Amino acid sequence: MATIYFSSPIMSKNLKLEAIAGQRKTLLGIAKENGIKIPHECEDGQCGSCLVKVVHLDGERIKGVALTDKERNVLKSIGKLPPNEDKRANVHDIPPTYRLACQTIITDEDLLVEFTGEPGGA
Ligand code: FES
Repeated sequence: MATIYFSSPIMSKNLKLEAIAGQRKTLLGIAKENGIKIPHECEDGQCGSCLVKVVHLDGERIKGVALTDKERNVLKSIGKLPPNEDKRANVHDIPPTYRLACQTIITDEDLLVEFTGEPGGA
């Protein structure tokens, strides 16, 4: 079970959701199911419009990153994957600050997900 908090200036208040890990749901998928309007277009990790900032709330218990080449390339192209975070993701499996909501699979980790409401803004 994961607790995920969504926060955005376009929402009247933060929203707290419980998600069951292991269902292969993405952050964008669970947001859509609950009426949270994270901007998105391709839903395939190509456009970058679903950019979100992810804060891991479990301290040392951060899960593996599962950053695909596709997501890595988009994050780099929009300047949201600095070299040090790319290296930490590659070498130590530590997730970067920014993710694509359509590519981020939910695990049993508690998260705070922030987005601006503008496509590609986080
Ligand atoms: S919706 Fe296009 S990258 Fe996520």
